[in-house]
Formats: sequence, C-alpha cells, structure tokens
Amino acid sequence: MALPLRLLRPLQTLRRDLGAATAMLRGQAPAPFADRDGGAWPPVRAPRSGRSLRVTAVDRLTDDAVRLRLQPEDSQPLPFRAGQFLVVSVDGPDGPARRAYSLCSDPRDPTGVAVAVKAVANGRVSPQLVHQTVVGDLLSVSGPSGAFGHPLSPGQARLHVLVAGGSGITPMVALLHDILATEPGSRAVLVVGNVRKRDRMLVDDLDALVTRYGPRLVVRDVLERPPPGWKAGRGRLDGPGLAAQLDALELAVAPSQCWYLCGPGGMLDACERWLLDAGLAPDQLAIERFTSGTPDAEPASFPATACPVTLRGRRGERTFSVAPGQTILTAARDAGVALPFSCTLGGCGACTQTLVSGQVHLPAPHCLSQAEQAAGAVLTCIGRPLGPVVLALREPT
Ligand code: FES
Repeated sequence: MALPLRLLRPLQTLRRDLGAATAMLRGQAPAPFADRDGGAWPPVRAPRSGRSLRVTAVDRLTDDAVRLRLQPEDSQPLPFRAGQFLVVSVDGPDGPARRAYSLCSDPRDPTGVAVAVKAVANGRVSPQLVHQTVVGDLLSVSGPSGAFGHPLSPGQARLHVLVAGGSGITPMVALLHDILATEPGSRAVLVVGNVRKRDRMLVDDLDALVTRYGPRLVVRDVLERPPPGWKAGRGRLDGPGLAAQLDALELAVAPSQCWYLCGPGGMLDACERWLLDAGLAPDQLAIERFTSGTPDAEPASFPATACPVTLRGRRGERTFSVAPGQTILTAARDAGVALPFSCTLGGCGACTQTLVSGQVHLPAPHCLSQAEQAAGAVLTCIGRPLGPVVLALREPT
C-alpha cells in the first residue's frame, strides 16, 4: 500500500542522504557545495569561488536547445555524479543571474562535461546560452550539486525505469550511462515525452546508448502531436498517459525496481501520484524538480524592518536579524552562522530546515513538494521571513 505524501518526503530525503553517504563510501566525491553541518556553530567559511569552464563545442539539439561541451579552464577534473547539475552565472542587462542545468554527459568521460540547455521564453539565462554562446566562451559555474538518483551497486540485477518530460531528459542521459555501466546485470526503460518530434533533445545520445547496450535499454518516445505514421507512443505523460505507455511496454510496478522522474511540475505531480497509487514504495522513486526561474507573485508587503530568526539545534539556539530583502541563508552567513546549502537557487533542497513558528515566503518555483511544505520544510536560500521566525535545524544523519 502506498504511503501518504506526508510520510513520503521524509523517506525520500532519508534515501537521498543515504545515497550520498554510500556514494562517499564508494569513494565518489561529494558535491563541493553540499555542507551538512547544521547543529554546530563554526565560523562561517569563506565563500567558495566558482569555476571557469571553456566551451569546446556547441551542438544544436533543436531550434531552441543546445548541448554545451565544457572543459575546466584550470585543467583540473570536474567529477560529478550522474543526476547532478551545474549552476551557470551570466551577466545580463538586468544584472547577474544564475540558473541550474543538469549534466548530460557520461560521468566516466575524461574529456570534459556537457550540459543541455533549452531556451525559456523571456528567460534571463537560457536564451543567452542557447543563442549567443560560441566555442571558446568562458562560463562561470558552481557545483556540481544535487542528489538525483538511486545508489547503484555492481552486484544488482534489477530494472530502472526513467520517465522524462521535455528537457527533463538531460539528467536521464547521464543516469543511463551510469546505470548501465555500473550494474551490468540491470536493465533500463526510458519513457520520454515531448510535444512534437522536433522538440526531442539528445536523440543521438539515446541512439548511441541503445546501440551500445542493446536489449538492456528500451526507449519509448511519446509525442503529444505525433506526425503521420508515428509508430511509438502518443499522448501526454500524465498519470493515465504514463499508465498507457507502461501497458504498451507490458511493464508493471514491482518492488525491486528503481524509478526516476524529471520534467515539468504538472507532469511530475501527476506521475508521482499515479505511481504511488499503483503501489510504488516511496524509496523506489527519485524525483528531480525543475526550477524555471520565473518567480511567482510576491506577497503584498514584506516587513519594512529586520526580522529576528532563531535557529534551534542540538547545541542550543542562535538568533540573528534578517534585513528587508535578505534571504535567511544570506543573513545567517552575514552573522557568521554556517548553514548547509548547495545550489542557492531553490532547486536542490540542501538548505532545507523546519519551520517551528512564524511565516517564511518561498518564491516559486522551487524543489519542495506541497507535502514537504505542509510538514514545515523551508528553503533558507530563497526564504524570506514575514515576521519573527523559529526554525529547527535538521541534524546530519
Ligand atoms: S541550496 Fe539548493 S535549494 Fe537551497
């Protein structure tokens, strides 16, 4: 029986953290920005500098999407785990802006890394990356960050089912490389949805993976507006739409499987609910939620004066002021309080703390589900207090 959503997210977070811990035990480097030191009050660390990556190739994927192949300017490696993303900073006419883009290359590829970027209408970063970037440009990035995926083990022989919508395919390609290379006894099914045939991204990468791994990888292309003669899937990838594709694949939810979802928010919510109703256990499901960078409406008025924010940890309490316009994370760092964070964009959940009292405004989109927010989760990297606030620190596991 599926767990209620209020119990689902804590289990997913636990699984995510256990995955990161086991990855470290396997010798894989943790995400450089992923502090998890809440509960203690060490001096704040110096801000980590980003890195400069040279664009070595710009591959056009669709009319409005490119793959950027990148090499570190300092010639030092840039290790990442499949499913992670880079945060790219650009200077635009409205000032600096930062956005997260999933890595889509094989984590074992020693020649560099790649991200795939789709231009968002009226976006501040993606149109510049898609339409103006040329070979030789330098990109300022931070990361890699994120913990999307399941722990892998060479001894496993199981089925991985990946469901992607639109540009949600980008981390899936890296994950497929990793899954199929790490677990020789496992198989993978990818269900990928797009509106039209010309919207499909990274098709060559998927073809190369199918050629390399043969029957171990099945790709099911689904189009909302298929051209005449289209023989693969049709329709939207919502709950019933996903069910129809699984029927066509003769695939049913089973306990040993690992599932992955990445795509637009509406698709994720519908597919997540359908899968849980179908009996999928919460720890079988990994979800990556996009943040589009389009903020929702601000509250009518933020407090005009500084708000006190109190952090409760196992070593006691610490209170600092958050000035108007500041986020809780920024104010904490100004006050010398080290809190965990990673992307600083509301996209990864590394800065999550629990609201005890007060109100915190979180501009959408962000990575928290409604169930997590209902349970009191707040993101300090984008959260601004609407009055006095008390937060309980999440202790490291
Ligand atoms: S640091 Fe990634 S969501 Fe806050």
